[in-house]
Amino acid sequence: MSIKIKERRISVKDIETRKGVEPIVCLTAYSAPMAEFIDDNVDIILVGDSLGMVLYGMPSTLGVTLDMMIAHGAAVVRGSDKACIIVDMPFGTYQESPQAAYRSCARVMAETGCSGVKLEGGVEMAETISFLTKRGIPVMGHIGLKPQSVHTAGGFKVQGRKPDEIESIKKDAVAVAEAGAFSIVIESTIEQLSSEITKESPIPTIGIGASVDCDGQVLVTEDILGLFSDFTPRFAKRYAELGTQISDAAEKFASDVKSRRFPTDEHCFKAKK
Ligand code: KIV
Repeated sequence: MSIKIKERRISVKDIETRKGVEPIVCLTAYSAPMAEFIDDNVDIILVGDSLGMVLYGMPSTLGVTLDMMIAHGAAVVRGSDKACIIVDMPFGTYQESPQAAYRSCARVMAETGCSGVKLEGGVEMAETISFLTKRGIPVMGHIGLKPQSVHTAGGFKVQGRKPDEIESIKKDAVAVAEAGAFSIVIESTIEQLSSEITKESPIPTIGIGASVDCDGQVLVTEDILGLFSDFTPRFAKRYAELGTQISDAAEKFASDVKSRRFPTDEHCFKAKK
């Protein structure tokens, strides 16, 4: 008899110690089956609020609710047993005050079983990050392009092209690390800036449209699989074309049904003799 020894989940502490040692691999998942497919090959599974756009067809992430994140977060935890699971905090559930953030994050941690949360913001969120981390909630920061600020930023724009933006993003990175975050996502930021932040930051940086020098990389799984075609960002490398395969399979099924080639004997139940 062979006994399968269950691997311990990767913890946020394990992620912290990977800085400068080995690149951190991170992908998003929103469902139990997707989590199961990717679990063996990633260190972190991010239950991103990108699910609003990718899964629910919303125009931005602003309509995502806490209940949605909790339902998807719990599914991803159930579907995985190795990766460190981080759940995104949705718009409006943490910005108001550290206390409001604590209540929302505590629900996410308790009701999903995840290992930490991610929230967008730099200097302006430092007090909240410090409040949360001192009370047992591991936080991953998110700086550079912050999709929840799409309206104040005037669109999904690459950040750090102007000198004042460079300075403010550097300050954000320092503030998030000093507040006690265990890692920071840097999104859509000019390469040199992400590289500099990575060299100076004491905590791991996870890049998305950032730099190969970051301590890790994250992409939206549907983007790399060809399952989301509304918009393909420059930074999303395609590793498969599953969307096309799904359309082809649906076409073949439709043709089989219309021509009565499906079902055949092997798919039908017969009475016992
Ligand atoms: O919501 C998300 O999926 C994210 C990643 C793109 C970093 O925040």
